[in-house]
Amino acid sequence: MMKLLVIGGGGREHALTWKLAQSDRVSKIFCTPGNAGTGQLAENIAVAPTELDRLVDLARQQHIDLTVVGPEAPLAIGIVDRFQAEGLRIFGPTAQAARIEADKAYAKQLMREQAVPTAEARIFTEYQAARAYVASRDQAVVIKAAGLAEGKGVIVCDDPADGLLALERVMKDRAFGDAGNTVVVEEKLTGQELSILAFVDGRSLYVLEASQDHKPIGEGDTGPNTGGMGAYTPVPIVTDAVMAQIEREILVPVVDGLTRRDVLYRGVLYAGLMLTMAGPKVLEFNCRFGDPEAQPILMRVRGNLVEVIEHALAGTLDQVELDYDPRPAVCVVMASGGYPGKYEKGKVIEGLDRVAELSDVVAFHAGTARRDRQVVTNGGRVLGVTALGTDLADAQKRAYEAVDMIRFEGAYCRRDIAAKALAGSSPAPSRSA
Ligand code: AMP
Ligand code: GLY
Repeated sequence: MMKLLVIGGGGREHALTWKLAQSDRVSKIFCTPGNAGTGQLAENIAVAPTELDRLVDLARQQHIDLTVVGPEAPLAIGIVDRFQAEGLRIFGPTAQAARIEADKAYAKQLMREQAVPTAEARIFTEYQAARAYVASRDQAVVIKAAGLAEGKGVIVCDDPADGLLALERVMKDRAFGDAGNTVVVEEKLTGQELSILAFVDGRSLYVLEASQDHKPIGEGDTGPNTGGMGAYTPVPIVTDAVMAQIEREILVPVVDGLTRRDVLYRGVLYAGLMLTMAGPKVLEFNCRFGDPEAQPILMRVRGNLVEVIEHALAGTLDQVELDYDPRPAVCVVMASGGYPGKYEKGKVIEGLDRVAELSDVVAFHAGTARRDRQVVTNGGRVLGVTALGTDLADAQKRAYEAVDMIRFEGAYCRRDIAAKALAGSSPAPSRSA
């Protein structure tokens, strides 16, 4: 029997803990720092994901057999390198491999070398040069802080004049600190966004089913970007042919490119894509599971996640064949009022007990904490209410029915999660009339 440690405390980590706890090989899970949801399945310990010394001590003292890392921050500062040096088993990419997310300029160069389709981009470290370039553009631009900025360091400027303001915010006002020392200026792509997650063992890939996130805070994809307001899987527009193209033109060349640079990528590789008229193009890579994408995906995975991770660690992913629940899953994020800006914490959450009685629905916790006998809000994204349904419309309906049973002051959710897929699935207008 195995003892596991799950690093992180968001919705993704609750979903990972929930899935890992189903394995008959797991006897105990620790979660650092976890949330009220993981606390029902695991022992939460108040250690932050970047306190590497304390995490190493914990893994030693508790004789942890396997550590699974949720968020990017500890990966980027080398938690995997550290654990490996101590002889502790851990799943995730090394700091060098995590640069694919932590340094967007590096990712761009890698894609260029490997001829991976992505937005046209220029990279700048000097404000004046960047300014001159943006001023010369007459089309929409996207300004990206190259470093880690919790998904908020990307500013899409439909009006090229706004590009200059965005650049000033990132490079002069240093809105994202050192993350904005280097800036990527990109052409704006249009199309539907997709998240493609794959297990990687250094050589082989095992690609999970496609999902779609909803990044902006407002319905109809309006307003500032968030960490993600909801997701669903599978995505009807991703046919087998599109998936094969993504694997052939994007995932495989990137892993090969890393290998050529002597970087062994072991962990989950997440490609954020735009499905453009000219085919799928990369917006970004992440070095971990998506949040909230992990919630609906893990709801559908039927196999043993511990075994998949062990194959990835052993370099035997080619032996993995995962079974999925054929029913689609929809995850609706309930957020604190004000998110992604300022918000209050400590609001009592009601109705979770009623949702717990529903079948094929899980309210994954994100920013929650236990206070006496109550569960209270403790972050921007509070819950990821996830439901399976006979089809996507049914999954959406069941997710929102559950959302409507839950109450806390200031609760906000988008009401259009999965709407794009449902609009797309209506019969095409007849051409013959
Ligand atoms: P990223 O963190 O690079 O994925 O960017 C966050 C979000 O900004 C993406 O999910 C897209 O919604 C948007 N975005 C990023 N790059 C582009 C681009 N080149 N064109 C259009 N939208 C983009
Ligand atoms: N949902 C977007 C992310 O995990 O980065």
